[in-house]
Amino acid sequence: MSELNQKQLLELVTSVNVAPGNARVRALVARVVGDLFKTIDELDVSADEFWKAADWLSRLGTSGQVGLITAGLGFDRLLDIRADEADERAGRSGGTPRAIEGPLYVAGAPLSKVEARLDEGNSAGEVFVMEGQVRTLAGQPVAHALIDVWHANSQGGYSHFFPGLKPYELRRRIETDAKGHYRFRTALPPGYSIPPNSPTSELFEALGRHGHRPAHVHFLVAAPGQRTLTTQVNIPGDTYIDDDFAFATRDGLIVELERGVAPAGYESLGISAPFVRSRFDFVTQPAATAGEASPAARLARVQATAGRG
Ligand code: BEZ
Ligand code: FE
Repeated sequence: MSELNQKQLLELVTSVNVAPGNARVRALVARVVGDLFKTIDELDVSADEFWKAADWLSRLGTSGQVGLITAGLGFDRLLDIRADEADERAGRSGGTPRAIEGPLYVAGAPLSKVEARLDEGNSAGEVFVMEGQVRTLAGQPVAHALIDVWHANSQGGYSHFFPGLKPYELRRRIETDAKGHYRFRTALPPGYSIPPNSPTSELFEALGRHGHRPAHVHFLVAAPGQRTLTTQVNIPGDTYIDDDFAFATRDGLIVELERGVAPAGYESLGISAPFVRSRFDFVTQPAATAGEASPAARLARVQATAGRG
């Protein structure tokens, strides 16, 4: 091969091919590689710095923490901002705001009708009940909506990702009744922190940033004909409520807590003493396409469309 300067190398890297490949992938890779060539040149990145970064990326990949980095560097929220902007352009508004799914969703949680205990009878922590209704923009109840709910345990760990939790602990799917009602009992969750001594913590330490999220509960709300809503609610009073490492807290998603609620009427959830309650209704938009009503979370959605370029 002949001698090359930087520009010629970039042209070669982004143009050589033996088959058309995927035009979109080629365009994206050309752009990203071009931007990185420019970054290396303009910031005078040394070979040692480059290989250190490559090693970090390899370790990040094997650690399964890519989803922590995308959130912590703002990409997950960026996608939500772009989706909100697209909605605004399309004249679609109203309903419960979307909020990032995060990387800790697990499909296939046990399914209950109308109410559930997420804590599987383990009564550690403050007893917390969330209840409400799924409604349309017009205020009609959404019958038999599916609410997938998940959150962290008292140490900020999620089942399937953190040792010591049972499969699907603190994860449930709840089918609402004909009037769209749901309720569940769990323990009031704390916040989440990125794992220490990990590729993620290495980066955030180097950036001088913390890796904490305020206390929150995740939801995926789906029903035929309604646009699937991915959101999360925040528990008020958390130190990080306005300083989320994943930039995901939003107005309208901070719930109100009622403390010392009398247990009458909550016996089926095993409650016999005053507890903490939050009432929260989910308001969903009409789906514009069948795909928008799919109850799939982000990875399943991508896998369903894989190969469509
Ligand atoms: C979470 O929802 O707990 C989460 C979101 C983004 C990164 C890490 C955790
Ligand atoms: Fe979370």
